[in-house]
Amino acid sequence: MVNDGTSSALVADILVLVKNNVVLFLVLLVLSRCIYHRYFHPLSKYPGPLACSCTRLWKAWSVYNGHTELDFIDLHRKYGSIVRVAPNELSFASPKAAHDILAPGNGFTKTEFYKAFPPKHAPDIFTETREWKHAAMKRVAVVPYSLASVQKMSPWIEDVQNEFIAKIGEYADSGRVCDLGDLLHYFAFDVIGEFAFSQRYGFVAQERDIGGTIKLIDNVQWYDGIVGQVPELRHVLRESPVFQYLLTLLSPPQVTQMALGEIAKRKKNKTDGFFLEPERRDLLGQLMEGSARDPGKFSEMDVFSVAHGAIGAGADSTASTMQSFFHFILSNPEIHRKLSEEIRGAHLSPNVTWAEAQDLPYFQACLLEAMRLRPAVGLSIPRYVPKGGAMIDGTNYPGGIVASINGWAVHRDALFGDNVDQFRPERWLSGDVRDMKKHMYQFGGGGHLCIGRNLAQFEMNKIIPQLLENFDFELVYPGRPVKSHSTFFVVQSGLEVFVRRRK
Ligand code: HEM
Repeated sequence: MVNDGTSSALVADILVLVKNNVVLFLVLLVLSRCIYHRYFHPLSKYPGPLACSCTRLWKAWSVYNGHTELDFIDLHRKYGSIVRVAPNELSFASPKAAHDILAPGNGFTKTEFYKAFPPKHAPDIFTETREWKHAAMKRVAVVPYSLASVQKMSPWIEDVQNEFIAKIGEYADSGRVCDLGDLLHYFAFDVIGEFAFSQRYGFVAQERDIGGTIKLIDNVQWYDGIVGQVPELRHVLRESPVFQYLLTLLSPPQVTQMALGEIAKRKKNKTDGFFLEPERRDLLGQLMEGSARDPGKFSEMDVFSVAHGAIGAGADSTASTMQSFFHFILSNPEIHRKLSEEIRGAHLSPNVTWAEAQDLPYFQACLLEAMRLRPAVGLSIPRYVPKGGAMIDGTNYPGGIVASINGWAVHRDALFGDNVDQFRPERWLSGDVRDMKKHMYQFGGGGHLCIGRNLAQFEMNKIIPQLLENFDFELVYPGRPVKSHSTFFVVQSGLEVFVRRRK
């Protein structure tokens, strides 16, 4: 009795003490958590900034500032190839580590980071973190995304190409300055429209970001990129009803509407199965076909989410890669001259074919080099180490920690030769480059290798040589870097050029 009374009094005293010193207790709590993470946590032996070992806010701040890729290059140059970038996360910059983390079937899984991205109730191939569900969606989606399927969409992709070439011709004829970067972005968006929905959205024709769709995607991805660094907060910052309401006030969910609208139209207008025209086997029709075959494994909701994913993932990524390519080429006169000579001596078809582009070794080297130095994804790709731990680059790491890779840092490893910061396509043209090719992560890797890479490669391999075959380009501001801001993708602007016709 006496003891009970004493301990109750003690508890009451402590509560009063805490109540009167709330701020002090909070500071002590944060401090002791920080000391634990810095000195006693299983990852405490790994180097990294003090702020990173205590909190994930450093990463959120880095994404907020928009230059995560550069921050990660700096971190690895300062601290080495393994850096502790958050209390529970190590960033790896060695190509061998990247291979081990991403290799299919090794048990590493996507983290909560991906849950910050929309659509909220219908994860797509990119945001789905359950491997079994991801595999089920991918089984249906790999068919329309295969190179063979993309090639069958060639006539409609070439329509966009021709419209684009005509548009660039207008700039050449008028002598006006052309924002090639923006136009390439519009081109990539219109290609997605044709490939996914048999729709021409008209970004190229109107030369503008219709409905602010691109801007909206960039802003949402930027916001989600920040929230994804502290995923516990997504319930408040991303998924709460209040936030969802505010979002609809700020901007209608265009991308969601775009995908839903296309599905509704298809159901209403269908003339031949799920396709608008029998020969035109676009992404949406093939997804609907897949769902009709086995709705238990690939539902109507999956059709929506995979189609939605194409809009969100397909344009920024491809545009960013083409913008980097042109900026590098136009900033290096000797490389520009050699590339133009190769393309112009190759007697290409008016609509350059995929096969013709594969026979342009210098062009392929330039494209690889652009993707090495400026991969389109600027944020790190995070994975959970499987329960029970796993080997990464010869060392065992505890299960449950996050292992991440940033393509910008990995692609600057000594494996890629000398002067890794320099744009030097020749590095791809001599000696045995198989190991370098194997360790390029511009499209991610393993079981989560970019599903849209065939489409992206296809359109880039057609439009870039065609542009260089038909026009001479010159930077309006030579020596000025492109402006960039990493959301998830590296969103770029400021690629203004003068254009002249060649023929
Ligand atoms: C040059 C253009 C592109 C680049 C550089 C690129 C890059 C990437 C990267 C690095 C990943 C891995 C992300 C991760 O693991 O977190 C990825 C995944 C993905 N990409 Fe792309 N991408 C490109 C074009 C496209 C296109 C055109 C589409 C669709 C139309 C697309 C759809 C996707 C999807 C759905 C995923 C998730 C794959 C999975 O987790 O299985 N991408 N992409």
